[in-house]
Amino acid sequence: MNTQKLQTNIAGLNGSIDIPGDKSISHRSIMLGAIAQGKTIVDNFLLGDDCLSTISCFEKLGVKISQDNNHVEIEGVGFDGLREPVEVLDTGNSGTTTRLMVGLLSGIPIHSCMIGDESIAKRPMKRVTEPLRQMGAKIDGREDGNFTPLAIRGGSLEGVHYQSPVASAQVKSSILLAGLNATGTTTVTEPHKSRDHTERMLRAFGVEVEENGLTVTIKGGQKLTGTTIQVPGDISSAAFFLVAGAIVPNSRITLKNVGMNPTRTGIIDVLVKMGARLEIENERVENNEPIADLTIQTSNLKGIEIGGDIIPRLIDEIPVIALLATQADGKTIIKDAGELKVKETNRIDTVVRELSELGAVIEPTDDGMIISGQKKQLTGGDVHSHGDHRIGMMLAVAACISNGEVNLTDSESISVSYPSFFEHLNVLIEGN
Ligand code: S3P
Repeated sequence: MNTQKLQTNIAGLNGSIDIPGDKSISHRSIMLGAIAQGKTIVDNFLLGDDCLSTISCFEKLGVKISQDNNHVEIEGVGFDGLREPVEVLDTGNSGTTTRLMVGLLSGIPIHSCMIGDESIAKRPMKRVTEPLRQMGAKIDGREDGNFTPLAIRGGSLEGVHYQSPVASAQVKSSILLAGLNATGTTTVTEPHKSRDHTERMLRAFGVEVEENGLTVTIKGGQKLTGTTIQVPGDISSAAFFLVAGAIVPNSRITLKNVGMNPTRTGIIDVLVKMGARLEIENERVENNEPIADLTIQTSNLKGIEIGGDIIPRLIDEIPVIALLATQADGKTIIKDAGELKVKETNRIDTVVRELSELGAVIEPTDDGMIISGQKKQLTGGDVHSHGDHRIGMMLAVAACISNGEVNLTDSESISVSYPSFFEHLNVLIEGN
């Protein structure tokens, strides 16, 4: 774990960057490609550590995956072709890999063991193991299947109608992937709509998926056919530069090929509502996913209230939204976001602790945080990512508007979702 001196007091960020592939979509391209019949070709795949964990797990299940930079080819083996792994499946830091794979493996007659890193070991798995057990899955793990390591003895499953207490795409997707192998139909209803990449991609692989408001239904026994996928840029990665462009003086940044799936664009709504100067251009659709180019400029911002339905549409962006709010006029209240406590870190605690270290006025609440915008530069300080990629990137953007020295410990974690983050930041600093 090293400590990196961050660039501070930046005079302006200017230029254009291509945002790397979407993490959620990259994971799903490997998973669905593996259980499809025939080859799947993926371009702009995200070479982040999390997605590489997914590739390595499927290789251990006997799937041939070739990779040349961000071009990936998967030789689909169908559900029947997955081989019982002789090694433990290591999902690293990736909640998506862990939760989706438990669902997928529950309905296949093989035994597997799954383990992740220290952070994964603390993240609740009951939210998937419980509904999967209702379908007949045999899963064990620490604290009655709530924590890794998990052991899965796959077998026959029955469709379920599951009313999820949380709006979580990982829960929904895990059950839908199990449902593909279950008898009858499987239905998931959520309290608010979560990201729908699984549903969209299943359709691209030829599977019928029914959507009715907050309910998704899938019929078991459907086969997937290999396809070609162009992964859009990750709006969750773009978010760091959208915020940077809005808060660093004299900035104008264009971010190309950003995924604009409406279940992910809460950050756009927040920026607009806070008064950011944002242009959306070149809107198009590729592989059932909307994409656009975004240009952001230094803006005068005002504090707002963020809660309710929008939360699942921006859950991963809350750390950087908190930073954005430090530069607004007035208070920003973030509520209904208790899910932050079970992310890669407890992001209510880590955001409040690290932004306070840089002089921000921010207090935690039970389900979010309250930020008093000061419209002034942050201070220097010694900050820590706590092994959380999004905390690390948020702090690197915070340093841009800091007037003192900022040292970031464990910046390596950023490679989980954005290995070229500092390279891109430098391009924009030099573009000034
Ligand atoms: C993800 C869903 C979200 C998100 C995570 C990726 C996915 O998690 O926070 O980064 O790819 O399905 P939850 O399902 O826990 O909300």
